[in-house]
Amino acid sequence: MPANDPAHGPTVERQPRILIVDDQEAVVQTLRRVLARGGYHDVVSTNDPRTAVELFRSVLPDLVLLDLHMPHIDGSAVLKLLTAEIPPESYVPILMLTADATADVKHRALSAGAKDFLAKPFDHSEALLRIRNLLETRSLHLLLGDRNATLETRVEQRTQDVHHAHLETLHRLARTAECRDDDTGEHTRRVGELAAALAERCGCSEETVTAIRHTAALHDIGKVGIPDHVLLKPGPLTTAEMDIMKTHTALGAEILAGGDSVFMQTAERIAASHHERWDGTGYPRGLSGDSIPLEARIVAVADVFDALSHGRPYRLAWTIDAVLAELTAQRNRQFDPAVVDAFLDLHQSLATHGGGLLR
Ligand SMILES: [Fe+2]
Repeated sequence: MPANDPAHGPTVERQPRILIVDDQEAVVQTLRRVLARGGYHDVVSTNDPRTAVELFRSVLPDLVLLDLHMPHIDGSAVLKLLTAEIPPESYVPILMLTADATADVKHRALSAGAKDFLAKPFDHSEALLRIRNLLETRSLHLLLGDRNATLETRVEQRTQDVHHAHLETLHRLARTAECRDDDTGEHTRRVGELAAALAERCGCSEETVTAIRHTAALHDIGKVGIPDHVLLKPGPLTTAEMDIMKTHTALGAEILAGGDSVFMQTAERIAASHHERWDGTGYPRGLSGDSIPLEARIVAVADVFDALSHGRPYRLAWTIDAVLAELTAQRNRQFDPAVVDAFLDLHQSLATHGGGLLR
């Protein structure tokens, strides 16, 4: 449909381009005049059917007017070649021009992909109407394609927005837990990064690594429910105080329970089980070995490494060698031996190639 025809609305922004393939120059000239009268001025033509495909590729027409009987290559053969050029999701109509439009000829051409016929000698008004109809259908296809693309872009953008909002909520939740006993938030941030690197080294999937990166910081979220006199006590805890402190695992799991997303479910498993021990003497449930979720086994190593290698108000930081010796000593006891090995491997790799993750 012509862009200068306001009755049809703004469907094609440019003039539709029409390709004529007909060996008779007189027919081509007649068609050009008819098209010009209908407002179609972007017309490309050839009298040589052998150039039709190349011309089609270079001008990318919105409509093809194709003669059925031509020397060198018959119109029906050209029709097959042209329809092969049109992707299934596109609609570029081909209008056949023929002087002997028998039922059989029409049937074969329609089966091969032609959209309509014009009998020679053609009635000019009928020709314009058929051309306009085909271009209108072409315009609607283009419009639908544009709308679908716009909708897909919008859905993608909204999905991204929701994802970012979800991550932001997780990070802010982590900050809530930190502000009680980790003013800077550095411990939880470092544990998140370290646990993600360790998960990668352990061979976890990209999805799991990403989930751990964004949720490991929530491992101590349950501390929001621990009273100040226990949480902020500047020194060793009594057994009773330690029992209270231990409830931060179950409390955290309770806060995070029932989430639909992989992130929230990962966060829940980590919060619930990051103080379980490989040998079954940890808390809160006394799980052992592989029954402890892998994410929690990974965060347990990252958490202890970071806690020991950084000072607290009541103790100095351990040296890296001392921390590594402790992790090694706890293989098969506190920690999954495979995770400790992956950690030592990661440390060795970072020590060789540089990197600030383990400082
Ligand atoms: Fe903890």
